[in-house]
Amino acid sequence: MKPKGPFYGRSVSVVHDLTADEQWYLYRKTAEIKAAVLEGRDLSAYRFGDTELSVYLIFLEDSTRTKESFRNAAVFHQATVSVFDAAHSSFNKKESLTDTLKMLVGYSRRSIFIIRSTVEGVTRALEVTIGDYCRKAGIAPPSFLNAGDGKHEHPSQEFLDEYSFLEKKNWNRDSIHIALTGDLYFGRTVHSKADGLKIFKEVRVDLVAPSELGLPDFYRQRMIDNGFILRTFPSIDAYLAQGEVADLWYFTRLQLERMGEDVLDKVGRLKHAVTVRPDHLDKLPLGTKFYHPLPQNRTEPTIPDFVTPLDLNGWDEQSRNGYFTRITLIGMVAGCLGFDFTGKLKVHEHPADDFVETGRINPHGKHTEYKTGIKPVDDGIVIDHIGMGRSVEQIWKLLDKIRRNLQLNYLASMGVFSSVKSDVVKGLISIPDLPELGFKKVKKLAALSPGCTLNLVRSKHVIQKYRLHMPPRIYNFAEIGCRNENCVSHAKQHEGISPEFERRGEGFVCRFCERPHTYDDIWTD
Ligand code: CP
Repeated sequence: MKPKGPFYGRSVSVVHDLTADEQWYLYRKTAEIKAAVLEGRDLSAYRFGDTELSVYLIFLEDSTRTKESFRNAAVFHQATVSVFDAAHSSFNKKESLTDTLKMLVGYSRRSIFIIRSTVEGVTRALEVTIGDYCRKAGIAPPSFLNAGDGKHEHPSQEFLDEYSFLEKKNWNRDSIHIALTGDLYFGRTVHSKADGLKIFKEVRVDLVAPSELGLPDFYRQRMIDNGFILRTFPSIDAYLAQGEVADLWYFTRLQLERMGEDVLDKVGRLKHAVTVRPDHLDKLPLGTKFYHPLPQNRTEPTIPDFVTPLDLNGWDEQSRNGYFTRITLIGMVAGCLGFDFTGKLKVHEHPADDFVETGRINPHGKHTEYKTGIKPVDDGIVIDHIGMGRSVEQIWKLLDKIRRNLQLNYLASMGVFSSVKSDVVKGLISIPDLPELGFKKVKKLAALSPGCTLNLVRSKHVIQKYRLHMPPRIYNFAEIGCRNENCVSHAKQHEGISPEFERRGEGFVCRFCERPHTYDDIWTD
């Protein structure tokens, strides 16, 4: 049995699945491996070196360099490499990815799946479902590496991009000033930068794109939350017309295949705004480098051919770095690298269960509050302040939803009333003789009706009062769903993944595709 390094068995679906320390380790180790490869040194210390490791490449969307660099990196490790033939597989008979993977995990003692898909959040979902399946079946849970999922993220590309920036900056992490240009809306490699650039202490990002191709608000906000200084320009011309131009430019291809008709109509103008011209060059700072994840559109590249032989070309070396960074990434999750890691390891974050707050009870108060309705409650529970402030119709709907979801099929009463202290209306459910709801139902109640109070009544006294707040996660409801049709949890994808949302600030994000949702957006009913 080989010893296992600290990253053994990990999956990487998004950049922040590796802490800043872990990313830094990846970059330093990559530098070591790259030098050893280029100098022709003994590489045995870096490779897994055993065919018992199976690396599956499942590419459901076209790729050249991600697929080939991962394949070659897996060959470097002397793993058994399978390039899954998705075009002629049972996917064509509408088999789900989950069923396909359940089969494949049974073939090896240790598997790594590298997956590219138009479906967003796929690797996170598989990490959960296949992980559970493996634990029950006594199979080692595999690692999943996201090789690009729709317009969500492309973490392994981010690692090679950051590695390339570090090389240009001579490994100085104090600051970075970068211009991001091209298709910032669909460009998943740009979205991954919202977390990837955090390895630098001071980050200045200039977003250079017409509004139709602008960075989605979610990633813009994440950059701001991460302390980046942002500026926005509609075109390269507008950017170069001002004095503070970055010496590091990151271009992305216009992803015409993902655009709707309304945007496609304007392609000529959009392309012109983000395409380099010869007259731009003398406005660039000395030592500027251009980077591009590639591929470029060969008929209409935004970095035209005249730039390729110039010192501006950083993208060819960047592309080559994909091989070295992916050797390191596979080695880390396979468990053969990481023994010399000294930083902060990712700890699985369990969101705090901070949704129940004990309320104040009037010690002298006789129970008089809950006599409104069909029957006063002497003993039992009363859920009060339901949907407070909403319309009467909305509260009735909410009451019905609570009754169905919590299966409150008891002798009980519910209704919509005016609050005693104000004109605001609220819903109220009283259930005589029920001593308590139980933790799971309380959690569901908090998700359905944040702000409500749960009162335990004994001998006409409220003996315990809880105010329920929005829980950190909302899941396990039939009536929730991600609004993103490309999300793996969306019903249209037929992957059988239950929708799940995590609280972020005032709103929620889908656990899988990270699409932001308001509280009301989460509910389909
Ligand atoms: N950069 C990148 O993801 O390229 P491929 O689509 O060729 O893999």
